[in-house]
Amino acid sequence: MGSHHHQHGQHHSAAQTDAAMAELLDLDAEVMHSYLSEVTAWIRQLAADPPPRRILDLGSGTGSGAFALLERFEAADVIALDVSAELLHRLSGRARVLGVADRIRTVQADLDATWPAIDVVDLAWASSSLHHMADPDRVLAEVFATLRPGGLLVVAEMVSFPRFLPDDLGFGRPGLEARCHAVLAEQRAADMPHLGSGWGPRLSRAGFTVEAEQPFVIDLAAPLPAASGRYAQTTLRRIRSGLDGQLSTDDLAALDTLTDSGGPDGVLRRGDLTVRTSRTVWAARRP
Ligand SMILES: C[S@@+](CC[C@H](N)C(=O)[O-])C[C@H]1O[C@@H](n2cnc3c(N)ncnc32)[C@H](O)[C@@H]1O
Repeated sequence: MGSHHHQHGQHHSAAQTDAAMAELLDLDAEVMHSYLSEVTAWIRQLAADPPPRRILDLGSGTGSGAFALLERFEAADVIALDVSAELLHRLSGRARVLGVADRIRTVQADLDATWPAIDVVDLAWASSSLHHMADPDRVLAEVFATLRPGGLLVVAEMVSFPRFLPDDLGFGRPGLEARCHAVLAEQRAADMPHLGSGWGPRLSRAGFTVEAEQPFVIDLAAPLPAASGRYAQTTLRRIRSGLDGQLSTDDLAALDTLTDSGGPDGVLRRGDLTVRTSRTVWAARRP
C-alpha cells in the first residue's frame, strides 16, 4: 500500500514536488495562523526568562514556524535548516517581504547524511519534520548537543491530515472524507513508521526532560481564513493523488468534483467548509 504511494510520486520531478509542497506549506501557515500564535505563546511561558535569542527551526520548510517564532521573540534570530534548497529559497524571499531577512539564516543540510556545524541555540523547533528522518534518535542526540543546558526542544506533529467536509456532501455516498482518511492512515503507517511513535519516550531516551505534551485542537468554522478553500483544495488533491485504486471510482469522481476549481460543488465555492485537525506538541528541556 505504501509502495503505491511512492510509485505515484515518481511521475513528478523533484522541482514539481517541491513547488507543490511549498504551496501547501504556505497555505497551511496562513490557515493555521491562530494555532501558531497559540503555540508560540505556550512556548514563551515554558521558556521563561530570558526569552530565547538563538532559535533553530529543524526542517523549516517555507518557514511557518520560523516566522511565528520571530514574531513572538522579538530579540531572537532563527537558523532555518532544511534539505530542500527550493523551500529555503522561498523562505528567504518571504523573509525579505516581512522585513526579517537580517534575523534569519538558512542552512541547507540533509540530516539523514550529516549534522551541519551550528552554534549553540536556546530553542529548537521541529514541526512535522522529525518523522521524515531515517534515524530520528540520532537527530535528537544532535539537537540535544546543540541546545544550551536549560534550552528547550519543541516537537510538533500532526495527528492526522485536516478534515474539511460534512459527512453528507449533497452528492455521492456519505462519509467520503472518513473513507479517504482510513486509507491514508494505513499508508502513512507503512510509509513513515516513525509518525505514530510517541515522541515522549524517544525524547527521554535522548536525555531530555519532557515537560509537557499538549494537544492543540484546530476547529475552524465560518468565517474561515481567506486561504481555507485553496488549502482544502490543495490538501484534497494531494490526498487524491495517493488514492488511485484504493477507493471506488464513485468516490474518486466525488473527490474530483470537490477539487474542480470552477465547479459549483467544489471546495472553493462551498459554504459548509470547516477546518478540523489536531496537533500534539512536546516540550523537552536539556537538563
Ligand atoms: C511537512 S514539512 C514541515 C515544514 C515546516 N516545519 C512546517 O511545519 O510547515 C517537512 C520538512 O522537513 C524537511 N526534511 C525532510 N527530511 C529532511 C532531512 N533528512 N533533512 C533536513 N530536512 C528534511 C522537508 O524538506 C520539509 O521541508
